[in-house]
Amino acid sequence: MALAASSVPNDLEPYWMPFTANRAFKKRPRLIVGAKDMHYIASDGRKLIDGAAGLWCTNAGHNREPIVAAIQREAATLDYAPAFQFSHPKAFELASRIAALAPGDLDHVFFCNSGSEAVDTALKIALAYHNVRGNASRVRLIGRERGYHGVGFGGIAVGGIVNNRKQFGALFAGVDHLPTTYNREKQAFSIGEPEWGAHLADELDRLVALHDASTIAAVIVEPVAASTGVLAPPKGYLERLRAICDKHGILLIFDEVITGYGRLGYAFAAERYGVIPDMITFAKGITSGAVPMGGVLVRKGIYDAFMKGPEHVIELFHGYTYSAHPLACAAGLATLDLYRAEGLFERARKLETPWAKAAMSLKGLPNVLDIRPVGLTVGIDLASKPDAVGKRGMEALELGFFEHDVMFRAVGDTLALSPPLIVSESQIGEIFDKLANIIKVVA
Ligand SMILES: Cc1ncc(COP(=O)(O)O)c(C=O)c1O
Repeated sequence: MALAASSVPNDLEPYWMPFTANRAFKKRPRLIVGAKDMHYIASDGRKLIDGAAGLWCTNAGHNREPIVAAIQREAATLDYAPAFQFSHPKAFELASRIAALAPGDLDHVFFCNSGSEAVDTALKIALAYHNVRGNASRVRLIGRERGYHGVGFGGIAVGGIVNNRKQFGALFAGVDHLPTTYNREKQAFSIGEPEWGAHLADELDRLVALHDASTIAAVIVEPVAASTGVLAPPKGYLERLRAICDKHGILLIFDEVITGYGRLGYAFAAERYGVIPDMITFAKGITSGAVPMGGVLVRKGIYDAFMKGPEHVIELFHGYTYSAHPLACAAGLATLDLYRAEGLFERARKLETPWAKAAMSLKGLPNVLDIRPVGLTVGIDLASKPDAVGKRGMEALELGFFEHDVMFRAVGDTLALSPPLIVSESQIGEIFDKLANIIKVVA
């Protein structure tokens, strides 16, 4: 599988890379040419352990044979079927399988191709739901500071990351935000859900008092805010948010693009926390990253609200050319089979304690300000260098890639890890040993 360095393209310039410092990358590219199970192969042939499941998505590990074979078979059988007014059997089969995994009456699935599309779809369904029920004044959407909901206009509007918003104008009106649940002073070095902070859900009552419930359509949160550093919900927070939404007729959306499909030891975080939202967005792990796919799970009552009026009329004017693409559906079905056959969600649950223990072994190393393990993921905050926010994180990432043969995410000076769920205990040890060395070098 290892390829020679000649696999580095001569001209890196034409590709404008997403969420990447392009000029720095092109001076010293981090190119990957192959993958298998827990490892990536770099363009110089080195094998790197994947501490990030790609980008939080390859939950079943890389290039798993049953998923590869399913994609190959489907590509040779049905390359594409129109998503509007026609369909194919695997779309229905996969929707049933996903609904069966979801808690409560979350039993209908709308497919799209990414987390961003899933978020925009869920927000549109929320607005349309109130509209079809005669509550057209419910147009406000509530997100949360430090929330990441992808990069569509809807997603950045409800998202709470200033850099993702500030270049893009006024976005859309009528969005407000809950405060972040993270407070280092009160929560530093918490394992799992912090004790402090459930009361922050009551801020929703304050927003209701400010705007009036009759103007609010939905609240969207990540059960664990992953992209901004792995911020687990304080104990009791999500329950309180659910109760306040119920009190005011506001829809609750869990963005489970990362927390879905085993990352927290369950099919969905909704199950871990025993809180049933009105919609769940998912992507990434549904195909273990092998083919782009996203979707929205909705409760029966929401779907039913649309299924009125003359039967020849389209009920929801929304969809994508590649909704439920045959290759994605084939990959999704094979992935769900693999999760079940190998018990990967249960495996993640069992590994949570050794994972947290290994992560916590970094406490006391230079510049480590906080460590937040939850499920099979962790955020590690490093102190920023004076006047160079993000530099230490980037140095750690580069050292990991070029010298220590380990890959993880760096978000500013926070390191985020989320290995494939097939990781072994000894590989967990290996990842954190490497990380300890890296943290010492970047001190
Ligand atoms: C919670 C959440 N929502 C949405 C997205 C966007 O997904 P995509 O990059 O597939 O559009 C992400 C991506 O990381 C995410 O973490």
